[in-house]
Formats: sequence, C-alpha cells, structure tokens
Amino acid sequence: MDWLHKFLFAAFLVAGASTTGARGDAMVTGTVFCDQCKDGQISLFDYPLYGIKVTMACPGSDGQYTTWGEETTNWLGNYAMRVGGTPNLNACYTQVSSNGQGSNACGAAAGPAKQLRLMFNMFNTGMYSVDPLLAQPAQPMSFCQSSSTPAPVIPVSPPPTPLLPPVPRFPPTPFFEASACPHQMWLMPEYQCYWKVVSPDMKVAVTFGLIAGRRYGADMTLRQGMLGRGDPYRTLLREGTTALLNSYNSIQFPYHPIGVIEAMNLALMGSTRHVLHTALNFTRANSGSGNAATCRFTTCK
Ligand SMILES: *[C@@H]1O[C@H](CO)[C@@H](O)[C@H](O)[C@H]1NC(C)=O
Repeated sequence: MDWLHKFLFAAFLVAGASTTGARGDAMVTGTVFCDQCKDGQISLFDYPLYGIKVTMACPGSDGQYTTWGEETTNWLGNYAMRVGGTPNLNACYTQVSSNGQGSNACGAAAGPAKQLRLMFNMFNTGMYSVDPLLAQPAQPMSFCQSSSTPAPVIPVSPPPTPLLPPVPRFPPTPFFEASACPHQMWLMPEYQCYWKVVSPDMKVAVTFGLIAGRRYGADMTLRQGMLGRGDPYRTLLREGTTALLNSYNSIQFPYHPIGVIEAMNLALMGSTRHVLHTALNFTRANSGSGNAATCRFTTCK
C-alpha cells in the first residue's frame, strides 16, 4: 500500500468505527482548499478550508442529476460521505455548495465540480476519492503575484494528506552523525535552531494526521504535546514528537520520519498496551540506547 491508500484505509477505519452494523455501502472522501490567488489551481499559498459545505450529485436513470448528500469539511479541510447500499458512484460529482457557517472569507466562489473515483473495495464498502475542490475569495489576496508571474503550482492528482511529513529543504548540520536527544533538550531555548522541518507551534493534527487530531484535539501544538506526561497517550505524544524531531535531525536515528508517523498512528488505532509499547520504543530511541548515540546539540548562535 502506498501512503495514499494507507491514509484512506485509516480514514476508513475511523469512519467504520463510528457506524455499527452498516454493511455494504460506499465512502466518499475529499478535501477543499482555499484558492487564495483565484488561479484555479492549488499553489503554495493555498490551505485546506474548514466549515465549507460540499454536495454530492449523481445521475438518475433519466440522466438528471440529483443531490445525494451534503457534508461540511472538518478542520483539516476533509469531508467524508457515506452512502448505503452498494451503489456505483463513478458517475457522481462533488462540488462546493456554500461556505457553511458563513464566517469564511474564502467562500465567495466555488471551483468546478470533480468526479468521484473508486480507489478500492473492502468488506463490501467502496472507497471513493475526489480530487481537491476549490473555494475562492471575492478578490485575490493582496500578496498574490501578478498574473504575469504565476504562483508556483503543486501537482495535485492525489489529495494532499496530513499523514505525509514535510520534506526537509536541507539537512541540518549533524545530519549524517548519530544523534538522539530527549524531549527536555528539544524544549530548551538554546537549541531551538534544531527545529528545522517542523516548528514548535505546528499543530499535532497537521503533523501526525487525522487520527492523532481526534485523540489530542485540533488545537494542541507540538510544544504542548512535548510537555505532556502522566497518562500513556500523553507519553506517546511526547516521545513520538521527540522521535520525529530526532528522525529529521539524524539519518542514523532508528526511525525514519514516516516510520515515526506510522508507528504513532498504529498505536492510536490499537490498545492501551500497544500505546505503551510504542511510547517505550520511542523513549529508548530518543535516549540513544538503540545505536549508542548521544545528543549532538551545540548552543545555537
Ligand atoms: C518495539 O520494539 C521492538 C524491538 O525493536 C519491536 O519488536 C516491537 O515490535 C516494537 N513494538 C511496538 C509496539 O512498536
């Protein structure tokens, strides 16, 4: 399974867990972005939109489209619709229908409707995804470049996912040396320059994804997560975030960034015992006991 399928599988498990007894149905998932520059594409400035209403329309036997469902996007810009029976939704579309709560400056105009695509079938449930939908403000934002120099465009065929960790632009200095630092070190002001790929104010939900967001809430930042202690889930978050930082900082760290995020999500979907084991494994790696590493931090200039 590639990352997109893993993400959809995780989304499916979460959705499946919330509905009992439903057999034979379809799940439709997608994301809405704010197209801030009104260029019709997802560029560097665009972000997932919360609180936007999305409608799904399907053709009947007479070819007329009727509305089959409506959902509002969550704080990660995602929406998910469930349809009973085992319908073939390949001819259906989703479209931004309104800006939900009406508080959103980006809900003035809607981009084109997008067709559903069947990703896979599992346990009688068809998983469909839709390319990202766009909503636009009334006017392009002031920081948008003029039309003569179009904003850089990110290819968007698979929907962007919060499970994919950011790619470092350059490796930090001790990247090729073995280094592992405990959470206390990462929180010290004199070592703040080692936070290169993620920042202390980044949200846990954005860094680790939907499942972590549900567990820890939408507002928890990485720094707050690293101060947690006491219960197994807070310990997992503290050590998991520390392991992620260490994995970005040294190629010899026992975990790769994607491995940290996967282990974290697997733990959150499993038992409390699994959570404790994963937290313990992260703690061992962060203390350098796996590969006899020490913390290679030197005071930031
Ligand atoms: C913890 O680490 C051990 C040894 O590397 C491994 O066998 C085990 O699967 C890990 N457990 C979890 C829950 O990650």
